[in-house]
Amino acid sequence: MRRQLICGNWKMNGLAASAAELTALIAGLAPERARGLDLMVCPPATLIARFAEIAAGSPLAIGAQDCHIAASGAYTGDLSAEMHADAGATAVIVGHSERRYEYGEGDALVARKAEAAWRAGLVAIICVGETEAERDRGDTLDVLAHQLATSVPSGASAATTVIAYEPVWAIGTGRTPVIAEIAETHAAMRAELARRFRAPFGDQVRILYGGSVKPDNAAEILALHDVDGALVGGASLKSQDLLAIAGAARLTPA
Ligand code: PGA
Repeated sequence: MRRQLICGNWKMNGLAASAAELTALIAGLAPERARGLDLMVCPPATLIARFAEIAAGSPLAIGAQDCHIAASGAYTGDLSAEMHADAGATAVIVGHSERRYEYGEGDALVARKAEAAWRAGLVAIICVGETEAERDRGDTLDVLAHQLATSVPSGASAATTVIAYEPVWAIGTGRTPVIAEIAETHAAMRAELARRFRAPFGDQVRILYGGSVKPDNAAEILALHDVDGALVGGASLKSQDLLAIAGAARLTPA
């Protein structure tokens, strides 16, 4: 039974004062929700240590949004997975489409970032997703199969790896695929991962959906068999919205 993960990606949003939002999130999470699902927030790196301190002892985990492939070195402005772990993160998002398309990060680099995450003891949340043009050409499943083959390193395990399917055209746009498309795409991705990795990875790996997840569409998305949670951007900035999305998640019996 895969436990659903609701993960907020704050992107480049949040200042010290945003700690109030985090406190409200922790306070608002009902105990049966905390027992039955995983909840995580990935703030900007400047807030990881502060948020990890606030979340200590609570069910809320803190993650990072990106990392360099090296543990340390002369890389001005970059942050390593080890630094995120040292600050209190337990996971890091790699290969988000905003990194892929705005910074030209390709599949090979994403795979190396995932390995850097594991090296530091972090869970790698590896993002994949097709662009609108690829979708319009009918190439979605081929694009995803290629991204999975080249962005997910062969050392992946369900304990150290989460996949996030985020159609690029659905991110921050308010548009989402129809429910049947999400179901079909997630099933195809799981089949692809099952083919490539030894059992039981295919059954156990969590595949999140991301792209305009909101309180009003979360229930139907999170009810799908092969959807194991959500990566939430805009709606994760308000604790009430993220709690509503967590409230729509499927609970794993204790
Ligand atoms: P969105 O972002 O929920 O604002 O569409 C999702 C993401 O980019 O992770």
